[in-house]
Amino acid sequence: MSVAPAPVVILISGRGSNLKAIVDEVRAGRLPAEIRLVISNNPGAEGLRIAQAAGIRTRVIDHREFSERDEFDRALMEAIDQEQPKLVVLAGFMRILGDAFIRHYAGRLMNIHPSLLPAFKGLNTHSRALAAGVSEHGTSVHLVTSDLDGGPVIAQARVRVQPDDSPTTLSARVLEQEHRIYPLAIRWFIEKRLTLLDGQILLDGQRRPEQGFSTDNNTVCP
Ligand code: GRF
Repeated sequence: MSVAPAPVVILISGRGSNLKAIVDEVRAGRLPAEIRLVISNNPGAEGLRIAQAAGIRTRVIDHREFSERDEFDRALMEAIDQEQPKLVVLAGFMRILGDAFIRHYAGRLMNIHPSLLPAFKGLNTHSRALAAGVSEHGTSVHLVTSDLDGGPVIAQARVRVQPDDSPTTLSARVLEQEHRIYPLAIRWFIEKRLTLLDGQILLDGQRRPEQGFSTDNNTVCP
């Protein structure tokens, strides 16, 4: 499907490997997005360098310069809205956003989380998955709602947990999957293939038997 590139703003806090995966897909002509701005709350975020190297405008809005979270959120909203994005992408953005922010971008605010939601919401997902002894772990792309890491799931990818996995080895395999499914979920959004029905996402009008879509028909990726 060929659609006009949609304006997108991406928010980061750190390494920026998901940002890079998205940028690479755009540059390869496989993702019809125009990344208008990358915003980081952290001036030292490596992802800022990735954006700059790709010729994408960047801005730092340092949360430490705001005494109230609402003020920080408002400054973010102002910067984002100047770009008139169709979609706001959280790519490793490590600040909790307030209700007003989330309401303002309802239906066009996406996040990636390193677990098979609804399992392991919150932080340290890889070590928690190992401690729980699960056989499968993975990653989820979801729309953001005021329920932290609880919004409707758009895409999931699974990895099998190996007996000798450490949080480091497991997170590396999950990250590979993140880089695969985040650009894909963004493409589905831009191509208008996603709809929300009763709190669940449909792709091309279809609901999968389990929550969220696996990009590989629910087979476990080695
Ligand atoms: C990823 O694991 C993502 O799932 C989580 O934060 C991490 C960001 O990594 N939300 P990066 O900055 O994209 O490399």
